[in-house]
Amino acid sequence: MEITILDTYEDLSRHAAEVLFRQLEAKKDMLLCAATGNTPTGTYELLAEEYARRPQRFADLRVLKLDEWGGIPLDNPGTCESYLRSHVLTPLKIDPTRYISFESDPADPEEECRRMRARLADAGPVDCCILGIGVNGHIALNEPADWLQPRFHVAQLAPTTLNHTMVTAAGKSPAYGLTMGVGDILQSKMIILLISGPSKREITTRLLSQKGVTPGFPASFLLLHPNTICLVDRQAAPA
Ligand code: PGA
Repeated sequence: MEITILDTYEDLSRHAAEVLFRQLEAKKDMLLCAATGNTPTGTYELLAEEYARRPQRFADLRVLKLDEWGGIPLDNPGTCESYLRSHVLTPLKIDPTRYISFESDPADPEEECRRMRARLADAGPVDCCILGIGVNGHIALNEPADWLQPRFHVAQLAPTTLNHTMVTAAGKSPAYGLTMGVGDILQSKMIILLISGPSKREITTRLLSQKGVTPGFPASFLLLHPNTICLVDRQAAPA
């Protein structure tokens, strides 16, 4: 994992956006797996600014939703779907044929996961996966556990995850999560892990000193990936 410490959140977002522009240059129809949450918002804003200048650059970009709050209606403002719609899909004019998504409140969550496994097998592999990290070390909604699930699955959410600002915005606690598995994530050709803010300093310190992989710390599995860049702002960096 290549680690870069940047002075500010703006620098981190700019660096991530420039990596994405280079990726898009190399592959116009790249499949971008997009995390939601507070951390990637600055990066997506820079993509939207670039779209205003050079829309053609994004004409073939494909987007995949990384994870979702289960049991919350899709149009609730707190869902990952609503986030992607306002920060990525609308600003970059990603039409439905270039967006791979799944229900937030499916009648049969296991069936929805089976459908997503098939869709990923069909459309993948992911060219670039943008990730954040939870204060408990989760990636996507792969929570610390005795063992991790490799493929797309229904996830039991950790208490710290249920305190996330998106859940507060939803006004309703998700009953479960729907998420790409760690194996799906590791199959991405490139991963950009974004870490920002003082609340992440403790977990960043752990990640940067981590010697091996353990399911109790899902982000540690990124150490196995040959092409992960980790961008950390000064506030999240070890003191
Ligand atoms: P955040 O969420 O970007 O809002 O900090 C990251 C996460 O909990 O995975």
